Amino acid sequence: MPYFLLAFILIVSATAPSASSQSGDTVRRHAFPVASLFPSSTCPVSSAIEEDVDRESIPRVIHQDSPCGPLSSNNDCQDLARLFRLEEERVVTIQSKLSGGIIKGRDSSFPSGNVSLPANSGIKLGVLNYVVKIGLGTPPMDLTLAFDTGSDLTWTQCQPCARSCYNQVDEIFDPSRSSSYANVSCTSTTCTQIASGTASMPSCPESTCVYGQLYNDNSYTFGFYGTERLTLSPKDVIDNFLFGCGQNNSGIYGMADGLLGLGRGNLSLVVQTASHYGQYFSYCLPDTSSSSGYLNFGNNGNSSAAFTPMLTLSYPTYYGIDLVGISVGMNQLSISPSIFSNAGTIIDSGTAFTHLPQTAYDALRDAFRQEMSNYPMASPNPSLDTCYDLSNYDNASIPSVTFTFGGGVRVNLVRNGIVYTISRSQVCLAFQGNGDDSSMGIFGSTQQRLFKVIYDIPRRQIGFAPNGC
Ligand SMILES: *[C@@H]1O[C@H](CO)[C@@H](O)[C@H](O)[C@H]1NC(C)=O
Ligand SMILES: *[C@@H]1O[C@H](CO)[C@@H](O)[C@H](O)[C@H]1NC(C)=O
Ligand SMILES: *[C@@H]1O[C@H](CO)[C@@H](O)[C@H](O)[C@H]1NC(C)=O
Ligand SMILES: *[C@@H]1O[C@H](CO)[C@@H](O)[C@H](O)[C@H]1NC(C)=O
Ligand SMILES: *[C@@H]1O[C@H](CO)[C@@H](O)[C@H](O)[C@H]1NC(C)=O
Ligand SMILES: *[C@@H]1O[C@H](CO)[C@@H](O)[C@H](O)[C@H]1NC(C)=O
Repeated sequence: MPYFLLAFILIVSATAPSASSQSGDTVRRHAFPVASLFPSSTCPVSSAIEEDVDRESIPRVIHQDSPCGPLSSNNDCQDLARLFRLEEERVVTIQSKLSGGIIKGRDSSFPSGNVSLPANSGIKLGVLNYVVKIGLGTPPMDLTLAFDTGSDLTWTQCQPCARSCYNQVDEIFDPSRSSSYANVSCTSTTCTQIASGTASMPSCPESTCVYGQLYNDNSYTFGFYGTERLTLSPKDVIDNFLFGCGQNNSGIYGMADGLLGLGRGNLSLVVQTASHYGQYFSYCLPDTSSSSGYLNFGNNGNSSAAFTPMLTLSYPTYYGIDLVGISVGMNQLSISPSIFSNAGTIIDSGTAFTHLPQTAYDALRDAFRQEMSNYPMASPNPSLDTCYDLSNYDNASIPSVTFTFGGGVRVNLVRNGIVYTISRSQVCLAFQGNGDDSSMGIFGSTQQRLFKVIYDIPRRQIGFAPNGC
């Protein structure tokens, strides 16, 4: 089976410069020098891991996007208030979709007439931490896209930017300079199929099939559907890839050139490349801004992975996962399994912190606090309520946290998957409660760090392998 690997980098990170993945369940606590909690002073340095990834371009991503870049005066490498606000917006959207509530897209004034948007709001690119580089068109133009398992459509800004484009990392994609670009006409089967997958027919003001994505915080992208040659590597070329060519894009500040949709729905890259990669992909998210991970299509090995069932949800984009239990310091928390099964859980690369039913979060927080009772608490962050002041310690330790998924799969989180370091005097438990027990849980990207996470759609399973980066 062919596979392909893309390197990506961590854009927003405020965690320690080094940590290795702990495997096995034998670790009761993670010990570490407190100084290692400081963000790297030279943030972030990335290194591509595949020869055919253009290394030259990757530092430009950092320069433009990172709060740690030269344009930033913020040495803490973070804009926390924004991170937490965007995180909440995304979580609310995911939960409202999955509870049957549909967030209605507003009618667009572009291009004109009846543009009905699919119910597709929710994220803001700025909160997505991971980008990949791909080639689009003939000859291929390099694009740097944020990747998101919580979205289906891949889109990028397109010339002539008839309405408006924001500043992006690379040159804006120009379909007129590509010999393989084609519009999707309104009368095509493709447009009809897209329409049938959404709440209403897209309108066709200019005989070209129109797309629109509206995000919760009033950022948006509108434009045409097009098909193009997608180049993942010189050997991995996908023809007639359906994507969104954005003509009116706004509110997506200083970010990637667009988004790479890795959801489970029909428009996603994963489904469109099914004949190439068998709807099988994996990634490893690095735990520091100075390390690198990958996004990999096709099965390139699963030997050290443990697999848990992939659950199907009412909203087709998301990947459901069967969370059944949580341990702190190797002690299983007494949380009724029905707490997890009633709410349900998805796994998402675009939500930073794991969100739990309130009863489960309370149990986790209480056990964590008990294990941390030797350390002075710090003032809580508005989003993270359990923080410690470690400024008077040279060395510290935190209890291990293990998530158990259906099939007995135990995922023993790495240290930087348990705490989020705001400063040495504010080191916080990196989980959030949902406020109730009925909203969907989300297994977020912080907790997935350093695992190889495998999405095997044909076998309906999700795999975790430690030491994945
Ligand atoms: C772009 O779309 C937004 C949101 O629908 C709309 O308010 C704005 O007028 C559009 N801009 C142009 C120039 O069409
Ligand atoms: C919108 O669609 C409705 C029903 O299809 C039609 O009656 C109306 O004229 C359309 N409006 C515009 C501005 O195209
Ligand atoms: C996705 O595609 C499959 C096969 O083409 C089709 O049966 C299904 O209805 C589509 N789903 C949506 C939501 O459009
Ligand atoms: C695609 O459609 C848009 C809107 O109808 C049009 O402006 C553009 O010229 C078309 N491009 C091609 C290559 O046909
Ligand atoms: C691992 O991958 C091989 C193909 O490389 C496949 O035959 C096998 O079933 C996979 N194992 C699991 C547990 O999915
Ligand atoms: C901290 O741990 C290191 C080894 O990891 C040790 O050499 C050092 O003495 C410890 N410092 C204190 C104050 O315990």
